[in-house]
Amino acid sequence: MRRPRRNRASAAIRDLAQETTLSTDDFIFPLFLLEGNNKKSEVESMPGIFRLSEDLMLREIEECLKLGIKGFDVFPVVEEQYKDKLATNSYDPNFFYLKSLTKIKQEFPEALIITDVAMDPYSSDGHDGIVEDGKILNDETLDILGQMALAQAETGVDMIGPSDMMDFRVGYLRNLLDEQGYTNTGIMSYTAKYASAFYGPFRDALDSAPKFGDKKTYQMNPANSKEALLEAELDFNEGADVLMVKPALAYLDIIQALKTSFNIPIAAYNVSGEYAMIKAAEQKGWLDGDRAMMESLLSMKRSGADMILTYFAKEASQHLHQL
Ligand code: PBG
Repeated sequence: MRRPRRNRASAAIRDLAQETTLSTDDFIFPLFLLEGNNKKSEVESMPGIFRLSEDLMLREIEECLKLGIKGFDVFPVVEEQYKDKLATNSYDPNFFYLKSLTKIKQEFPEALIITDVAMDPYSSDGHDGIVEDGKILNDETLDILGQMALAQAETGVDMIGPSDMMDFRVGYLRNLLDEQGYTNTGIMSYTAKYASAFYGPFRDALDSAPKFGDKKTYQMNPANSKEALLEAELDFNEGADVLMVKPALAYLDIIQALKTSFNIPIAAYNVSGEYAMIKAAEQKGWLDGDRAMMESLLSMKRSGADMILTYFAKEASQHLHQL
């Protein structure tokens, strides 16, 4: 008789028969950068996650590297006074964010540093593109994104992440980077990014919620999966190095579909709201946060993610090292 339980009978056989494993090599840690010195503020809706000024972020990256985390996605917290309709500070080389990126790469050349290319953290409209008469413009926004990408590449970051879910981003940025000599700057494309409720805490962290409307004319409809394949085909053909699916937990089928169809690495973004849900339930004593964290990360890996952007990166790494 075939009895599948035999392969579950002891910890030893369970470990031997295990199909998927998590490792600190899988994680990319998103970080929120504050202007100034010695500043640290917790994101209220993300317990355990802090916005950090450059000096403290350098120490945080150092600690994470020691734990085996190799990738970091750095986002700027931009004060309202620095925001405008055309996100001009996003490509000003004197803006604190770009200066800090240079410093981070200088101090930790071995770390893989990723940045977002989208207008929203710098936009007084809180949208990812130029707004005109309540519409979000596609082609007109390209020039700003190009300047932003070049300014970021100039700091030495390893990969840029076009994250606005509008059309022709990857091809335009790839050409521009190549023309300007940044042939080694990679592109992690936010390929299948859904118009999701799970970004709420991130928008709290950066104070970047849209000032009107929503993002449904550019981010994808959660009901669609074939459209994700179309987006992936375009990004692949335009030269993306990594295709990302975002959020992760409610979109494991999309991760799997992209993994099956494309021969480049697939990233899953385990977003802020997914982190917040587990933390909130843990704080209420409603579930075991540690186990829920590891189980959900494992599910992303199992579904096909080669790398996972996650606010749990540090905690999960500590867990893996049994610290
Ligand atoms: C910006 C951006 C967002 C996230 C990553 N890059 C927010 C958004 O699109 O509104 C969300 C990340 C998270 O929720 O953890 N374009």
